[in-house]
Amino acid sequence: MGILEVKNVNKRFGGLQALGDVNLSVEENSVHAIIGPNGAGKSTLLNVLIGKLIPDTGSVSFDGQSVLGRKPYEICQMGISRVFQTPEIFGELSVLENMMIPIFAKRDGAFRMHAVENSSNEKAIIEQAEHVLESLNMADKRHFNSASMSRGDKRRLEIGMCLSQNPRLLLLDEPTAGMARADTNNTIDLLKQIKDERDITIAIIEHDMHVVFSLAERITVLAQGTPLVEDTPDNIKGHPKVREAYLGESA
Ligand SMILES: Nc1ncnc2c1ncn2[C@@H]1O[C@H](COP(=O)(O)OP(=O)(O)O)[C@@H](O)[C@H]1O
Ligand SMILES: [Mg+2]
Repeated sequence: MGILEVKNVNKRFGGLQALGDVNLSVEENSVHAIIGPNGAGKSTLLNVLIGKLIPDTGSVSFDGQSVLGRKPYEICQMGISRVFQTPEIFGELSVLENMMIPIFAKRDGAFRMHAVENSSNEKAIIEQAEHVLESLNMADKRHFNSASMSRGDKRRLEIGMCLSQNPRLLLLDEPTAGMARADTNNTIDLLKQIKDERDITIAIIEHDMHVVFSLAERITVLAQGTPLVEDTPDNIKGHPKVREAYLGESA
């Protein structure tokens, strides 16, 4: 049994079968990549994993508990944190202020910035936020306006915001999309560091094979909403079904 178990998940959008009979088991403390071409259903699957989207059929459980129908803060309390495809930080706030939001949310169960400003715990929250920024080597950027940072630094901040919640499962949707190679490599190094320093399971949706093969221990290939193959990176390389998924070639 994996820490994350997806069983017989189907999801239709009108006439489109976005997910078809998805079964997936993610082992605790592993890095599991989900790959597949655009439109394969990767983001839809991620939305199901965080309870945001209810599938038509099937079940999703984390550590034996169903995630389906749960509110975002309940998912967070279960130990699941996610990074969406487009960085979701508040551009008008500083790096430090962004980092304070989830720390406050963890304590009080609501994502309300005005409450942070009024909170008597503000000093403790700032200290915790600074501690996370130090661990990310971002302490010197704490007063930067976050909108002005590089895509890589925005991603680093967003991943840090997730880590501040001490998640047991970190889900990432194409974290290196649109990044320059140097930023991509920094993100790979950051995720390796996180893996080394914590007991954490990472599920990463990615189409950059350099990222996938640098990080993943298991890979699931999704095509047209259905897993084609799941295996180790070595076995996935050159696999005919991977060529089929990416190039439309059947081997
Ligand atoms: N809310 C939605 N309503 C209708 N169709 C959707 C919706 N979300 C995704 N889709 C469709 O489902 C398919 C899978 O989308 P998505 O999961 O975003 O793929 P991927 O992340 O692999 O690129 C695509 O054809 C997409 O257009
Ligand atoms: Mg997507």
